[in-house]
Amino acid sequence: MKKQLTEKSRQGAGAEHRVALQLDEARLEQAKRSLDDGAVVPSFGPWRDDIVSLLNDALATELVCILRYKRHHFTAKGVASPKIAEEFMVHAQEETAHADRIAERIAQLGGEPDFNPASLLQRSHADYDDSADLQAMIRANLVAERVAIEAYSQMIELIDDKDPTTRRILVDVLAEEQEHADELSDWLSR
Ligand SMILES: [Fe+2]
Ligand SMILES: [Fe+2]
Repeated sequence: MKKQLTEKSRQGAGAEHRVALQLDEARLEQAKRSLDDGAVVPSFGPWRDDIVSLLNDALATELVCILRYKRHHFTAKGVASPKIAEEFMVHAQEETAHADRIAERIAQLGGEPDFNPASLLQRSHADYDDSADLQAMIRANLVAERVAIEAYSQMIELIDDKDPTTRRILVDVLAEEQEHADELSDWLSR
């Protein structure tokens, strides 16, 4: 509902006024005053709770991905697996970096990063997997990466220009998820 109103008013302004690109002085003044909000400025204030909520779901997803890749790293066996097992750990470390960036952003926004393990799986977009077979592990990870790619793409679209800093973080993370998926699909076809 909030989104519809904003999109509508923005389209209206563009079509009817065609004003010069000018900064909103009132918002600059407001930024000077509301120090209680820390680094949070008024422009994305209305969206902050929604953005924190989306980021917390992404954080849960990253944490489940870390656990899945670590499980796979330590259990991968077979002739072809040493290199792939190592790559599972590399992915686990990269997912850890994603989780940290997302948690940091949640805190910057004045939100609370949710690391509660009790609700992790319900909040995660991707699944945990404890397959014993290497191909099944690769497949499970590819499915999870595809889910992550879809979730981040949708988040980037939703957040758009409402919070450019969060958007940029998500674009970086999305690029790495795409690399993960590429690698996994290469291994799957070997
Ligand atoms: Fe990730
Ligand atoms: Fe990934």
